[in-house]
Amino acid sequence: MTTTIMVAGGAGYIGSHMVQTLLAENYDVVIVDNLSTGHRQAVNPQARFYEGDTRDRQFLEKVFSQEKITAVIHMDAFSIVPESVQEPLKYFDNNVIGMVTLLEAMQKHDVHYIIFSSTAATFGNPTKIPVGDTDPQDPINPYGESKLIMEYMMRWVDQAYGIKFVALRYFNAAGALADGSIGEDHRPETHLIPIILRTAVGEQAELKIYGDDYQTPDGTNIRDYVHVMDLTQAHLLAVQYLQAGQASTCFNLGSSTGFSVKEILQAARKITGQPIPAQVAPRRGGDPDILIADNTRAKKILGWKPRYDNVEDIIQTAWNWKQKHPQGYQD
Ligand code: UFG
Repeated sequence: MTTTIMVAGGAGYIGSHMVQTLLAENYDVVIVDNLSTGHRQAVNPQARFYEGDTRDRQFLEKVFSQEKITAVIHMDAFSIVPESVQEPLKYFDNNVIGMVTLLEAMQKHDVHYIIFSSTAATFGNPTKIPVGDTDPQDPINPYGESKLIMEYMMRWVDQAYGIKFVALRYFNAAGALADGSIGEDHRPETHLIPIILRTAVGEQAELKIYGDDYQTPDGTNIRDYVHVMDLTQAHLLAVQYLQAGQASTCFNLGSSTGFSVKEILQAARKITGQPIPAQVAPRRGGDPDILIADNTRAKKILGWKPRYDNVEDIIQTAWNWKQKHPQGYQD
C-alpha cells in the first residue's frame, strides 16, 4: 500500500530536500506551501502541490479531504532567530496558530502521525554541551519559544487524541543536494554559510562576524552544522518509527561536532579558493555562545546514520548549489 506523506513547507529549503528523499524512497508526496518563503521552482513536479496557508482552515479541509494522508511532516514554521526578536508576534502567529489548525485538521481526518521540525533554539543557552534530548529547555528568543510551545502542544494533543509525534530538534541545517539542483535560498538570507558563499562570489563586500567576545576559544559562536540530507533521512526513520507503533518523543539532530564562525570561514576559503573578506561586527540579538547536539539517542533509537561527518563536505554541497544557481531560484 502506498504511504502518502504531506510535507508542509515542501517548497522551502529543508522541505524541498525532504520531498526529494521521500520520492526517492517511493513515497507518495503531497506538498503544502504558501510560498511566503518557499519557491515555486523548488516544488518537485513528482509531488502534488497545494498552494495555501496552514492557518487557513478551509484550505486545510480541502487538502485533507482530497488526499488520504498517513503522516504529516511539519516544516513550515518561520525560522530566523534575529527576525523573531524584532517581530515576535509574526512568529507566534505563523508557527503556533499554524500548528493549532494543522493538528485540528489531522484530528478531524484521522491522521495519526506528525514529524515536526523543532530546533536547538528551544534550549536557549544550554546548561551543558553537548545538549542531550532531555536537557532543560529555556529559549532566549521568540523563535525558540514558539517551537517549544509547539512541542508542548503536540504532547497534550497526543494525550487527548492519540496523534503521535516525533519532534526533531535541528541544530544548524546546512548544505544542499550534492548535484546542486536544489539548495538554500532565503530572502533575505541570514544564515552563515550562504552568506559566506555570497561573499566568495563578490555579491557582498565582506562577511560580518557577529561578535568575537563570546565564551569560546576564538570568541566567535560555535554551532553544530548538520547536512540537510542527513536531516531528511532522520525524518524518514521517524515516520517508520511511529508507523511501528512507538511512543511520541523528541530527538536532537546534529553532527555532535562544533565549529566556530571563524572556522567555518576558513573551511569556506579552502573550498572556494576565494579570500572571502571578513570583519568583526557587534553581536546580533539572541545568539547563544555554543550549540552542539548529543545525537546518541537519535542514532540508537531511530538508527540514524548521518553520512556527512565533515564540515568541508557540507560546505562543498552548498557551493555546488551556489555555482549552479548564482541568483538562487528564479521565482
Ligand atoms: N553569523 C555571522 N555573520 C553572518 C551570519 C551569521 O557571524 O552574516 C553567525 C551568527 O551570529 C551565528 C552563526 O553565524 O553565531 C550561525 O548563524 P546562522 O544565522 O547561520 O544560524 P543560527 O545559529 O542563528 O540559527 C540556526 C537556524 C535556527 C536554529 C539554530 C539552532 O536558523 O533555526 O540554527 O542552532 F534554531
